[in-house]
Amino acid sequence: MKMNIWKKACFALLATVAIPVWAQHVHISTDKTSLVLEAAEGETLTFAYYGDKISDSEIGNMLVAGTPKKDAYPAYGMQCIAETALSAVHVDGNMTLQLVVSGVRSTTEPNGAKVTSIVLKDKVYPFTVNVNYRTYPNKEIIETWTEISHQEKGVVKLTQFASGYLPLRVGDVWVSHLYGSWANEARVDEEPLQHGMLVIKNKDGARNTHTSHPEVMISLDGKPQENTGRVIGAALCYSGNYKLRFDTGDEDYHWFFAGINEENSEYHLQKGETFVTPVLALTYSKEGLGGVSRNFHRWAREYKLAHGNKLRKILLNSWEGVYFNINEAGMDQMMADISSMGGELFVMDDGWFGDKYPRKNDSSSLGDWVVDTNKLPHGIKGLLQSAKKHGIRFGIWIEPEMANTVSELYEKHPEYIIKPTNREPNLGRGGTQVVLDLSNPKVQDLVFQVVDTLMTNYPEIDYIKWDANAPIMNHGSQYLTKDNQSHLYIEYHRGLEKVLKRIRAKYPDVTIQDCASGGGRANYGLLPYFDEFWVSDDTDALQRVYMQWGTSYFFPAIAMASHISAAPNHQTFRTIPIKYRIDVAMSGRLGIEIQPKNMTEDEKTLVKNAVAEYKQIRDIVQFGDQYRLLNPNEKKGAASMMFVSEDKTRSVFYWWKTETFCDQHLPRVTMNGLDPQKQYKVHELNRIDNRPLTYEGKVFSGDFLMNNGLEMPLSHDVNYDKRNDYASRVLYLEEVK
Ligand code: DGJ
Repeated sequence: MKMNIWKKACFALLATVAIPVWAQHVHISTDKTSLVLEAAEGETLTFAYYGDKISDSEIGNMLVAGTPKKDAYPAYGMQCIAETALSAVHVDGNMTLQLVVSGVRSTTEPNGAKVTSIVLKDKVYPFTVNVNYRTYPNKEIIETWTEISHQEKGVVKLTQFASGYLPLRVGDVWVSHLYGSWANEARVDEEPLQHGMLVIKNKDGARNTHTSHPEVMISLDGKPQENTGRVIGAALCYSGNYKLRFDTGDEDYHWFFAGINEENSEYHLQKGETFVTPVLALTYSKEGLGGVSRNFHRWAREYKLAHGNKLRKILLNSWEGVYFNINEAGMDQMMADISSMGGELFVMDDGWFGDKYPRKNDSSSLGDWVVDTNKLPHGIKGLLQSAKKHGIRFGIWIEPEMANTVSELYEKHPEYIIKPTNREPNLGRGGTQVVLDLSNPKVQDLVFQVVDTLMTNYPEIDYIKWDANAPIMNHGSQYLTKDNQSHLYIEYHRGLEKVLKRIRAKYPDVTIQDCASGGGRANYGLLPYFDEFWVSDDTDALQRVYMQWGTSYFFPAIAMASHISAAPNHQTFRTIPIKYRIDVAMSGRLGIEIQPKNMTEDEKTLVKNAVAEYKQIRDIVQFGDQYRLLNPNEKKGAASMMFVSEDKTRSVFYWWKTETFCDQHLPRVTMNGLDPQKQYKVHELNRIDNRPLTYEGKVFSGDFLMNNGLEMPLSHDVNYDKRNDYASRVLYLEEVK
């Protein structure tokens, strides 16, 4: 990042008129982008520019070329008719803010990130807002957030507190965002911005990405294109209720705001306290949606995902294989099976705990994190010994933010749950699930101890699956004072983050999966503490093509847990051949979620082979750049994408047929991201065909592959009894010199 601040009178020529510009400018830049603010002392902080990189010497011209001339952090009160980022009620009841620049600061963080803070002060009241911007070396991301504080004698009520704001020049601007529901997460919606408001929001309380996501793509040049056009990406890095607003009136700009959802969350700010809004990460690319995704992925792997530079293990998860029917012999058998297929880790899912109330189904035991010794007489120690015997690592499932009313925890501490005073709580999963009140420090300790006790007693535990299967169903904290009940949603997530920070400080190396009834918590608020997330409880490979496509808009493949599961699928009841199930799962963090003893020998052989082949390419999938090639949502009969290693010497290409008709004519997919000058040898992975592809072992230039591509046969060349309506291909490309 480079910051250019100057304060002088300069004259910019527009036509023949000299326009005096008295200003102090803040130029925040990455290698390819610039964000410019006008920050004259005593004046309103004004947004001038965000987009392609401009030089310092171009700033004067940029200003006279036309800018939004709007507050960079609009506050309510003195321009009542506009949408605002911030609104407050002062101690004396005054509802207005008038913020002006009082200084600019710049700091460098230990990881090399640069932070620029523009300090705004109210003209009358002792009320301060720091508007912050952070950039990282070699990353195309600008993070923005604010810090709000005051020195008034009493409590100031914050009624709106967005993290950031961006004017978008009206033209043909489109928004792409993710929508969905349980078992159908991360589907893509795209729509043009029109007059009125587009609001994308969440009110789940505990999880925030089952339905909409707090990330958006904004295509500035018409309908979203994968590889071309100017696109801004925005990701609110927050795990709680959020609200993204696009406001369009009769002006030249759409106004975009993103931040915590202020509904039912009025915040009472004490004198001297600082309210820190979550980070809003912005990125810009001229390479369409794909360019923005790659910017997010690179930043995430290095800064926003736990261990983003470490290869993930290939695992077997017990859930779809045995559900709650955990027992020692069964776990040992699954460990033996995954080990024999070349896997590296076994994760025991739900069902292992509960003493007075053993966890037989989802209606009891959450909160009682002791081993059910009827199921596991030798406890976790015995399981760790099994894992060692089979040469793999061991992981375990927990859901520490929750309890059931049928649990010893609830009997001892009914005051720990979220519930309104004078009312019985609404109950969730299993008819008895409740959410623990993480605003309460004692509950924070309790949740920390769930992990701490496991890890202290069994330091060999390699992996934790952290689940969260209930929203905040009724508003009420038994810990917060009656005046601060409106802090519940915010304090819940502050509490959660405090716990996660403690866990990471003490256990930096353990792998932790972020799961919330599937993909309910895929957000950059939590991912810094987690290694990956469970994309969806829907493991149907065909539906996963769509969900993983949408997820990849903002999240890298290394973070997407993607498992080979049984047929018929347990969610859609669709019967998809193992080859296709493998080829889809291999495009994320590969895992298996099946009862191996129910697999046929053929299936086991294919999975074993896939595990071995995935090990050869996992660094490309997990660390490479992703190029989406053929969009399943365009309904062209197939979907395709590829990963390319950073040095462009190796690549993996995926192609999945998404529908089947006779005499079908699918498009020929051209590749992307390769070096046009390099020569690549093609080798098919997970091959089931009797004969190799015509181009097996052949060498093509990157130029040819990106301009012409390779034909994908419509079906597999297998014996008649093995034919089915699915087809998929995984190709490995390696440079030959
Ligand atoms: C919901 C998760 O998404 C599943 O993978 C599984 O862990 C169950 N919870 C267990 O109850």
